[in-house]
Amino acid sequence: MQKFQMQNYFLPPRIEFGDGAIQNLGEHVKTFDAKKPLLVSDAGVINAGILAKAIDALDASGLPHAIYSDIEPNPTDTSITHGVETYKSEACDVVIAVGGGSVMDAAKAIRLLTTHEPPLEPYYADVGGLERIRDDMPPLICVPTTAGTGSEVSQGAIITDTSLNTTDRWRKRAIVTPFNMSNIALLDPGITLGMPPALTAATGMDAITHGIEAYTATKYHPIAEGVALQALRMLNANIQKVYHDGNDVTARGEMLLGSCMAAFAFQKGLGAVHSLAHQLSTDAPIPHGVANAILLPPVMEFNFSHATEKYAEIARALGIDTSNMDSSEAGHAAIDKIKAFNTELNMPAGLGAAGLDRKKIPKLGADAMLDHCHKFNPRVCTEVDMVALFEAAF
Ligand SMILES: [Fe+2]
Repeated sequence: MQKFQMQNYFLPPRIEFGDGAIQNLGEHVKTFDAKKPLLVSDAGVINAGILAKAIDALDASGLPHAIYSDIEPNPTDTSITHGVETYKSEACDVVIAVGGGSVMDAAKAIRLLTTHEPPLEPYYADVGGLERIRDDMPPLICVPTTAGTGSEVSQGAIITDTSLNTTDRWRKRAIVTPFNMSNIALLDPGITLGMPPALTAATGMDAITHGIEAYTATKYHPIAEGVALQALRMLNANIQKVYHDGNDVTARGEMLLGSCMAAFAFQKGLGAVHSLAHQLSTDAPIPHGVANAILLPPVMEFNFSHATEKYAEIARALGIDTSNMDSSEAGHAAIDKIKAFNTELNMPAGLGAAGLDRKKIPKLGADAMLDHCHKFNPRVCTEVDMVALFEAAF
């Protein structure tokens, strides 16, 4: 007889998916009986004309708003503090994130500190923050402008800690709570049409990495496993289409939904790829999705003996006919498919080519051990392993 440890599974409260979803923003604000949203965004989203669509929607509903748009590509605790100041000085009562992963993660952290005593330090996952976060935060509406991070339905927010009290350099840290899931995610394929090919590729490979790491993560979560595989099928079927034709709105929509599903799935856990990748964006100019794409094949090789059957299942989700293969052959075919994506999507050949200074690897390997993601990796990782994986990906 099998015994089960107690598990908690969380579903996103509401996902509205379809062309023009952003136009409904004001009506959703009103369902919370909110009066004044804080729009959190960044310069890229403003320049692409997407924030203007959100503002138009609020105007059409007769709602005033405030804007905080000083979010960096890897948001720091400092910009979170400034965002909270804007929220309070403008007397806002709901947070709307319009942007990619950095904007949505920043919005989550801003929202947290509107009801929780600053600074962020006690709320980071690596110091037991999960236990300190209450469900008394204002509503959060997310409008993702990229198809990759899926932060609109994920429980994490990745913040660059500049307080220097945990390490001798800035380090990315996670705030993890089920209350970080947005109250409403508005998935509007049309607003992702303008994404340039390099960003499309990087964010798409981030989503594929989420699907693979979630499916192989060690927590018992069959719901997430099913969603991860369907996400991989959709991402596999569309990533090349959106890279080569950014105006394929059907493929853009499937990527947006696929990335959302992959992020929902990673409440099951992620893995070593993310622990390694989280170290790179603060010390090298390597976007998160690019780092994941480069690190994924060597980490899959490292994990292979501990996840062979699951990699074979992933191969099938990635459209590979495995009927004449054993599990080992099928699993390796999945790794080959990731390498082929990296080539077709013009990813750098390695971390060195992407801009990493090799001398930093020992320190980055040590810091990767402090990241929570690898705790759910199918194979236990040591600091020596982390350094070796950085070298293998170099
Ligand atoms: Fe990611």
